[in-house]
Amino acid sequence: MRRSHASPARVADAPLPTDAEAEWAAGALGRAERALAAVGGEAISRHIFLCGISEKQQCCARAEGEEAWAFLKMRLKQLGLANAGRDGGIVRRTKADCLQICHAGPIALIWPDRVWYHSCTPAVLELIIQQHLIGGVPVAEYRLLPAPQRGAGIDQTGDQSGA
Ligand code: FES
Repeated sequence: MRRSHASPARVADAPLPTDAEAEWAAGALGRAERALAAVGGEAISRHIFLCGISEKQQCCARAEGEEAWAFLKMRLKQLGLANAGRDGGIVRRTKADCLQICHAGPIALIWPDRVWYHSCTPAVLELIIQQHLIGGVPVAEYRLLPAPQRGAGIDQTGDQSGA
């Protein structure tokens, strides 16, 4: 079924939220802001998203994905990377339900660095943790995209800054 878009006149006719709805929304926003602060807020320096146990289960076998996810959780905790006040910032992790690559997984994405990794077995994740999440240097041999060329004038994202 086709979805229709509301015309400007219909949007203008839409009922305004009641005081109770507005109060609930403001309360929800406050709760969200407090939740973000509780997980690190501005102190979060990197976030790793890992697909290995998605519903599609296309980038790797479930057992491989489960092993990778369990390893990542265990190592980040062991190394204290999510600890408040950590030098270098807090590292968060999220189990992603398909990063839309669907081959050569488990697949990982590191925010805000825009670095994608393939074949994220525990051994590869250990490299990523040590070299990238702790050391700040992406692991070149497991990147899905090569590092942007410095000074080339245009990088792989189309950014023409040359930085
Ligand atoms: S199923 Fe893992 S990236 Fe799609």
